[in-house]
Amino acid sequence: MTAPARWAPGTPDDAQNGSSTRSALRNARWIRPAEPQVAPPGRRPAHLLRRTFALDEQDLAGSARVLAHVTAHGVYELFLNGVRVGDEELTPGFTAYRERLQVQSFDVTDLLVPGVNTAVALLSDGWFRGRHGFERRTDGFGTRTGLLAALVATGPAGLRTLVATDDRWRSRSGHVTRADLMDGQAVDLRLLDTAWFTGGGEPAGWAPVLPAEDALTADRDRLVPAEGPPVRRVEELAPRAVTRPRPGSAVLDFGQNVNGWVRLSELGPAGTHLTLTHGESLGADGRVDTDHLRAFVFATGERLPAGQVDEVVSAGRPGEVFEPRHTTHGFRYAQVDGLPEGLDLSGARAVVVHSDLPRTGEFSCSDERLNRLHEVVRWSFRGNACAVPTDCPQRERSGFTGDWQVFVATAALLHDVQVFSERWLRDLAADQWADGRIPTVVPNPAGNRPSGVAFEDASAGSAGWGDAAAIVPWELWRAYGDTGSLAEQVPAALRWVQYAASCAERARHPDRAARRPVPAPHERYLWDTGFHFGEWLEPGVPPRPDPTADHGVVATAYLHRSALLTARLAAALGWHDVHERCAAIAAGARDAWQREYLTPGGRITEESQANYVRALAFGLVPQELRTAAADRLAELVREAGGHLGTGFLATGMLLPVLADTGHAALAHELLLGEGNPSWLGMLAAGATTVWEWWDGVGADGGVRGSLNHYSKGAVASFLHTHVAGLRLPEDPGPAEAGYRRVRVAPVPSAHLTWARTVQDTRAGRLEVGWEVADGVLTLDVTLPRGTVADVELPDGTARRLDGGSHRLRCAHRPPGAVAGRG
Ligand code: BGC
Repeated sequence: MTAPARWAPGTPDDAQNGSSTRSALRNARWIRPAEPQVAPPGRRPAHLLRRTFALDEQDLAGSARVLAHVTAHGVYELFLNGVRVGDEELTPGFTAYRERLQVQSFDVTDLLVPGVNTAVALLSDGWFRGRHGFERRTDGFGTRTGLLAALVATGPAGLRTLVATDDRWRSRSGHVTRADLMDGQAVDLRLLDTAWFTGGGEPAGWAPVLPAEDALTADRDRLVPAEGPPVRRVEELAPRAVTRPRPGSAVLDFGQNVNGWVRLSELGPAGTHLTLTHGESLGADGRVDTDHLRAFVFATGERLPAGQVDEVVSAGRPGEVFEPRHTTHGFRYAQVDGLPEGLDLSGARAVVVHSDLPRTGEFSCSDERLNRLHEVVRWSFRGNACAVPTDCPQRERSGFTGDWQVFVATAALLHDVQVFSERWLRDLAADQWADGRIPTVVPNPAGNRPSGVAFEDASAGSAGWGDAAAIVPWELWRAYGDTGSLAEQVPAALRWVQYAASCAERARHPDRAARRPVPAPHERYLWDTGFHFGEWLEPGVPPRPDPTADHGVVATAYLHRSALLTARLAAALGWHDVHERCAAIAAGARDAWQREYLTPGGRITEESQANYVRALAFGLVPQELRTAAADRLAELVREAGGHLGTGFLATGMLLPVLADTGHAALAHELLLGEGNPSWLGMLAAGATTVWEWWDGVGADGGVRGSLNHYSKGAVASFLHTHVAGLRLPEDPGPAEAGYRRVRVAPVPSAHLTWARTVQDTRAGRLEVGWEVADGVLTLDVTLPRGTVADVELPDGTARRLDGGSHRLRCAHRPPGAVAGRG
């Protein structure tokens, strides 16, 4: 790994601000395919849009280079003279399209020739018009797809448009007979005429494109240069096993749950119709089972098909390949049906597709199970970093705010996620409702207002989810220390905090009002109304969102947390007024939480592991009661048979809280715990990515929920920050954020003999590693120049180190730790 600079987009430099992108496209018109009737969802084809155009020697000789600037409503691939332009996938990516639409800029100088040239775009529904979200609704952003493109020559005389989308383009449907990101893609290669891509082929079937003029396309201010790493085909996996559960059917096991698609290079004789069903698990009959991925519509109880089905009909041409690039799937297994006798599937590959984020962090230790856990968490992240951070790559594939809030700090230990997250935060700000509420998913098809779907609208603004507005910028600030981006992000965080504070002030939960008719003064800051998911998915608690539940203990904690973080971020910006307003809310919410939920003895009135973890992690328990509260948390773990009991929000904080409050041995015990619920239990049951539910695969083999949700994988942070011991300060100052000041405080345990982490940061590379031999712990720390580390050795000695390589030693005889429990 080399130390990455701030992400420098691969797009040419002169397209790096909105106004030059817009000016490059000034001669282009939005066009849409001639599509007399939009096919029903599930049967919508991709369209080809084409223009042949002549260039003379002069056009090319006089140009230093030619850039293709392209964007779409839908997902596009661009071809010039038969060659696919660029190596990006699923362009233009997924953003809050009403406010921000990315434009890709590709250098195509070498693809053009003097004489006749042909530009073809293959355009499908994508996120714009295709299925999206829990209810898999279509037409989220509009009912028509569209394309906007221009080839622009840059030369001594300035910019010159060589060709641009206009009414001279023609369109047709073709070989992609259906394409949807969730449903899958169908291709009939018999319908493909390769001459289309070089300007030839039957003229029949092509019709003039239609102008795509509406209020949205008229708004050019929303065109922005592509931001951050594009989605790419990052890796290929060969099948580990091929089984034949029934005649004409094979199941390919790629050994790893991924996001992407399958490429087939043997398609059989002309007319062979293969169907590929992608999934994460197999049924008792050995066939792919996607039943657990079917979402259901809250309002009607209807269960929706899982989708993820591709089809290909062979034309029997030699060298034919099937590779769908207008869909992606979450899968480990692909079932191929319709196989003719003797078709060889050994060339099939799972193509891993995700945002091409530079790797920045590594962890390893003497326990292979933990190394495997770390890798499984990283695969879950890779499976859920496709243009936006998603909850899961199969069932909803939405940018759930809570999921990224929970995981962003962990992701930043694995990959460079700064620009990836900043782009998403711009969408979050764009989708924020006028009252400050944040929708549960970003980008949100309904934009910054209610969608009209009762559950979606009611769940906007849930504590722990909307708090992404403050927590994501905060974690980016700690990891990257970039004050420049904060100025853009803090206003949305502030509006969120004000929204939450006004909810607390305005209303009271009916149960509390009945119990205490006259409100106590602290209730002004008690956020106990509105819909909240609460801790969500604690072991054995099925997801049953209840709009009438009182989640004040969770919501008030988050009101404190987001207000505190926004206050700190405002301080980093020197925004004193915002700092003071938020600090006052944070103090009020802390006081309200303590008065309402904390006993004088340090007990929480609504006891759960998650509530103790949150209270301790968020600083809601006063110093003098922390030991009592932490001891009670440890007791609750023991009462649960030594098992964790946290769900979606608190799991990532559980082990750090235990280790930091004197319960390091218990933290290690939980880390190594087996059975259900536990991380190693998932691995033992065959998980290759982290499950959504602790019992994602039950003792009976039954599968529940998604098998690729990264939220519980936030435990990987503990491996970096506590097991290896490289930590960011809780509240870094402007000169300290971004790894310019760190804490090195390993928390070894008896079952480990060594651990090591490497982190490439804006400050340079940091390495921390320790090993134990003969009762001596040796700690090696390498810091870039300019970084200061406060080191705490396990024997309690403290040292301050700066740039360079250091070796420290201390006597170390750890108390015996329990190594795994069934
Ligand atoms: C998603 C989550 C999400 C949750 C609550 C689920 O269906 O998969 O990860 O955060 O709903 O909104």
